[in-house]
Amino acid sequence: MSDNKKILVTGSDGQLGKTLQKRCSGKYGFDWIFLPKEKLDIIQADEIQAAFKKYNPKFCINCAAFTDVLKSENQPLLAFKTNVEGVKNLTRVCNDYESILIHISTDYIFDGTKKRPYLENDKANPLNKYGMTKYLGEKYVVENAIFGYIIRTSWLYSKNFGYNFYRNILRAASNGKEIKVVKDQYGTPTNTEKLADFITKIIISLPKKGIYHCAGEEVMSWYEFANKIVEENNYSNKIIPVSSQSFGVKRPSYSPLKNTEI
Ligand SMILES: NC(=O)c1ccc[n+]([C@@H]2O[C@H](COP(=O)([O-])OP(=O)(O)OC[C@H]3O[C@@H](n4cnc5c(N)ncnc54)[C@H](OP(=O)(O)O)[C@@H]3O)[C@@H](O)[C@H]2O)c1
Repeated sequence: MSDNKKILVTGSDGQLGKTLQKRCSGKYGFDWIFLPKEKLDIIQADEIQAAFKKYNPKFCINCAAFTDVLKSENQPLLAFKTNVEGVKNLTRVCNDYESILIHISTDYIFDGTKKRPYLENDKANPLNKYGMTKYLGEKYVVENAIFGYIIRTSWLYSKNFGYNFYRNILRAASNGKEIKVVKDQYGTPTNTEKLADFITKIIISLPKKGIYHCAGEEVMSWYEFANKIVEENNYSNKIIPVSSQSFGVKRPSYSPLKNTEI
């Protein structure tokens, strides 16, 4: 590999970005540069150009995304601009600078009709606007990045950072109340630390370009996951299983991911 050891991380104030900062900053012989949205808005092509001109990174890890599934239904244009246009902007500048793009995608590009965990080459069929924007973003990378990786993950959570299911359940549990949780959607909860380590592995080993899945080992429902979180933290709240039909946005009922590539 060349002497260029710079890694630029976009969206660095999100849960994955913060986990990468905590876990990887200054490590593995790389020079990590973390840019939150305030310093680099991926919708603004000129801001990406300026950042690449300044840092000339060998790698760009795109942790920036519009991740709120419900808000994506109500603000589809912003979701599209971030998850599609922003990703196109990054891809083009990575190509210009011969940088390796590592882009994160999601299990929500699948429709959840399979009876076994999804593999990297299974067909996408997103059910909601968030899933569609993420699918279009990853498709652009696959078709246009000279050197790009897509890492799909599922039900991402950090115990320490951000707004996620794990921390929401903990917050609710600390109030001592009953908690209603969806029982009929299954996935593979993935700790951001596992994903950060997987990304680092990709950067160090540089496997062939393409799509990789990185997800937790256990398949479970949100209801089962909530019970696990409550038990793990020694709370005794009652978790009440409810049907997903009472929640507005359509989501895949079964979207565990399996890694078959590395
Ligand atoms: N969370 C999940 O359950 C899950 C599951 C599967 C895949 N993923 C994927 O994993 C990746 C990381 O997700 P995450 O959970 O870490 O998300 P997150 O916590 O929501 O972080 C996303 C970050 O991107 C920033 N951002 C939004 N628009 C931006 C823009 N135009 N330019 C630059 N930054 C922007 C956000 O800033 P603001 O908050 O200020 O807008 C936030 O800091 C995403 O690609 C996501 O689609 C997530």
